[in-house]
Amino acid sequence: MKHRQGAGLKLRGIHRQFEGRPVINHLDLDVAPGEFLAIIGPSGCGKSTLLRLLAHLDQADQGTLDRSEADLDVAFVFQDPCLMPWRSVIDNVALPLELQGVPRHHRIPAAEALLRTVGLGDAQGKFPQQLSGGMKMRVSLARALITRPDLLLLDEPFAALDDITRHHLDDHLQSLWLSHPMTVVFVTHSLSEAVYLADRVIVLSAGGGNITLDYKVPLPHPRTAASRLSTPFIDHLRTVSEAFEGHSRTLA
Ligand SMILES: Nc1ncnc2c1ncn2[C@@H]1O[C@H](COP(=O)(O)OP(=O)(O)O)[C@@H](O)[C@H]1O
Ligand SMILES: [Mg+2]
Repeated sequence: MKHRQGAGLKLRGIHRQFEGRPVINHLDLDVAPGEFLAIIGPSGCGKSTLLRLLAHLDQADQGTLDRSEADLDVAFVFQDPCLMPWRSVIDNVALPLELQGVPRHHRIPAAEALLRTVGLGDAQGKFPQQLSGGMKMRVSLARALITRPDLLLLDEPFAALDDITRHHLDDHLQSLWLSHPMTVVFVTHSLSEAVYLADRVIVLSAGGGNITLDYKVPLPHPRTAASRLSTPFIDHLRTVSEAFEGHSRTLA
């Protein structure tokens, strides 16, 4: 029986450099099973590199990365939804199961259920070119979850979308996380998005991937539009922004 509460991750002394320049610098990090972790940091500080290491798409030069399960199922969501234009929405969502050899009569109901969760129950037969940017991203989220991953990695997934669409996508992602036990590591440029979604926010420094802030956000889930305006939310956001900007000032 598959592990159903999400992957635990344990990084010790993880070091990755390119052309002699450290990008991730002897990083220690523990991620608890089922945690929603947001990572923020200036452009080029190594966020995507770290996600690739977590996904085993790249290998560290030094250090160890232990995952709680050997046969961990990992899904990755990028800013570009990367849908196949010649496939319908439902067939895009079902694709990972098709690649695993799951028969159509099993994969289609699973895809339908996920599309309903992201509010696209009526768009199954449409093709990607008929969808807005936000709808394409919802299809991409549904596709990522179809294999019921233990670990979901997202690399600035909603950065290209307008604020209103982004807020809706945040809520879809939150409800997917609340209904599918999994660990989420979410890279974003937006401090308020990080505080809104995550249990815990870490800030990476420029020029050497160290953690300059590791902050637990003790607000209950689900968070709602009203949470974004609440005093506790604004207080947490202020603390994270001050740490982020304080560090940027030191570097300037
Ligand atoms: N495969 C690679 N080869 C050489 N340099 C790389 C490679 N991948 C990333 N880098 C460099 O590592 C640094 C961090 O990149 P990245 O992890 O993409 O940052 P972020 O996602 O935080 O913007 C950048 O300076 C980038 O140019
Ligand atoms: Mg990046």
